[in-house]
Amino acid sequence: MNTPSASLPGGTWTLGDLTVTRFGYGAMQLAGPGVMGPPADHDGALAVLREAVRLGITHIDNAGAYGPRITNRLIREALHPYPDALHIVTKVGAVRDERGGWPPARRPDDLRRAVHENLEDLGLDALDLVNLRLGNAQGPLPGSLAEPFETLAELQQQGLIRHLGVSNATADQVDEAQRIAPIVCVQNMYNLAYRQDDDLIDDLAAKNIAYVPFFPLGGFSPVQSTELSSVAARLDATPMSVALAWLLRRSPNILLIPGTSSVAHLRENAAGAGLPLPEEVLAELDRVGR
Ligand SMILES: NC(=O)c1ccc[n+]([C@@H]2O[C@H](COP(=O)([O-])OP(=O)(O)OC[C@H]3O[C@@H](n4cnc5c(N)ncnc54)[C@H](OP(=O)(O)O)[C@@H]3O)[C@@H](O)[C@H]2O)c1
Repeated sequence: MNTPSASLPGGTWTLGDLTVTRFGYGAMQLAGPGVMGPPADHDGALAVLREAVRLGITHIDNAGAYGPRITNRLIREALHPYPDALHIVTKVGAVRDERGGWPPARRPDDLRRAVHENLEDLGLDALDLVNLRLGNAQGPLPGSLAEPFETLAELQQQGLIRHLGVSNATADQVDEAQRIAPIVCVQNMYNLAYRQDDDLIDDLAAKNIAYVPFFPLGGFSPVQSTELSSVAARLDATPMSVALAWLLRRSPNILLIPGTSSVAHLRENAAGAGLPLPEEVLAELDRVGR
């Protein structure tokens, strides 16, 4: 359910029984270059997290694999004891290897270990929302998620996880997950220039399930398009602001988790996502990634 919020653009959304601001924050960039920690600027990373909460953000997206285990510990150091309204979302299903790769780790024991490590590193008794990360670094891959998702559903029944979601998933896997246990979100790659999930977003909106695009600004290579640059110049705004504002307008079930390691960029993004986009501009932007 989407309701207005006074402080941040986009209002709020309810994930199961957890109300979050649609403008959230993705913590991956805090881990340092290559998402392998520790970060060069430890205090700067803490400052970004504290600024996110000060701005009123109540949704932080994270994973034990970031660092690995670095961003969870930064979140705890910066924000514990956590404000009641703050919800930290994590992902399990991949680990890091010595070359910085993201090999899958989806056997039942891997997932149990990952959930317990997240609880320990964050200093929590239960995780608000755990996404099962599927596929690989190139994107989703077909195949059943039954065994790993059933494992997470068991951990949920044991009270260690409040809500479940899937990430880097195909539409078939989203359907399969819902036959095993309710999901409250899908986190896949999507942005103005990468529109593979358009149908899935509309389908999830009809079911009141959130869609959380990762790489909303393009990730490691910023979203670029002539139309985006031209719209941004005409509106006297940055391409980042236009890309975020467009996502908030694209569908009410879209939650933003733009990543940054900079307090200044965080503030710019929080303000920029509220950029008004006239109807003719929306139509122009809608053609970019089609
Ligand atoms: N489920 C998955 O498999 C998966 C995969 C990737 C990411 N994620 C999640 O998605 C979140 C977002 O992804 P992301 O952080 O990789 O990509 P992103 O949000 O698309 O872009 C982040 C990049 O944009 C830059 N940036 C942000 N705001 C800016 C601004 N106002 N001006 C100029 N540059 C700006 C950041 O650099 P600065 O640090 O310099 O601001 C950073 O390099 C992550 O934090 C993570 O939680 C999930």
